[in-house]
Amino acid sequence: MDYRPLQPRDVPLLREFLYQAVHVPAGQAPYPREIVDLPAIRVYAEDWGAPDDAGFVADADGTVVGMIWIRLLKGDRRGFGYLDDSTPELAMSVLPDHRAQGIGTCLMAAMLGFAAPRYPALSLSVDLDNPAKHLYDRLGFLEVARSGGSVTMRLGFASVPRRTSG
Ligand SMILES: CC(C)(COP(=O)(O)OP(=O)(O)OC[C@H]1O[C@@H](n2cnc3c(N)ncnc32)[C@H](O)[C@@H]1OP(=O)(O)O)[C@@H](O)C(=O)NCCC(=O)NCCS
Repeated sequence: MDYRPLQPRDVPLLREFLYQAVHVPAGQAPYPREIVDLPAIRVYAEDWGAPDDAGFVADADGTVVGMIWIRLLKGDRRGFGYLDDSTPELAMSVLPDHRAQGIGTCLMAAMLGFAAPRYPALSLSVDLDNPAKHLYDRLGFLEVARSGGSVTMRLGFASVPRRTSG
């Protein structure tokens, strides 16, 4: 498996990986694919290419099987996990047949290495019944807010010196 930065040729895949990132509660039928066109969800992927858009992919011999990405979502484009204007929000998914094999952990390692020198923290929103929360707990994300059945989690990089350029 090759873990590499998300490149322009990967951008068309964001829609699929955003769809895969939408948690379907156990026992519930999958959502229609158009769910990613809802305004609250499409902000995570539309118009990709802003200066603070960044991601990594898990590439299995040319096939992307996992993706992790961050965006600074603010103003009228806040995400579910909004904390403040300088904390990017994280989203990730691995294709179903490839889950629980360590790919998500490796994607997260790549992203945390990238983000730690650049940002004060990362945030995300996750449903309480999503097993992905185990992964975030294990990596040190802390719950900072709760709304209905979901939590906003934050991982701070306070002790790491921040890069000022590049
Ligand atoms: C969450 C996700 C990206 C993790 O990727 P992964 O490659 O399965 O993760 P890893 O194999 O590295 O680690 C598995 C960890 O994720 C958790 N996990 C999350 N979803 C899981 C799933 N569907 N199957 C198995 N483990 C899952 C496990 O509890 C495990 O935690 P642990 O090691 O502390 O016990 C992936 O499971 C996925 O795409 N899930 C559906 C989409 C989603 O929920 N995205 C996050 C939205 S907030």
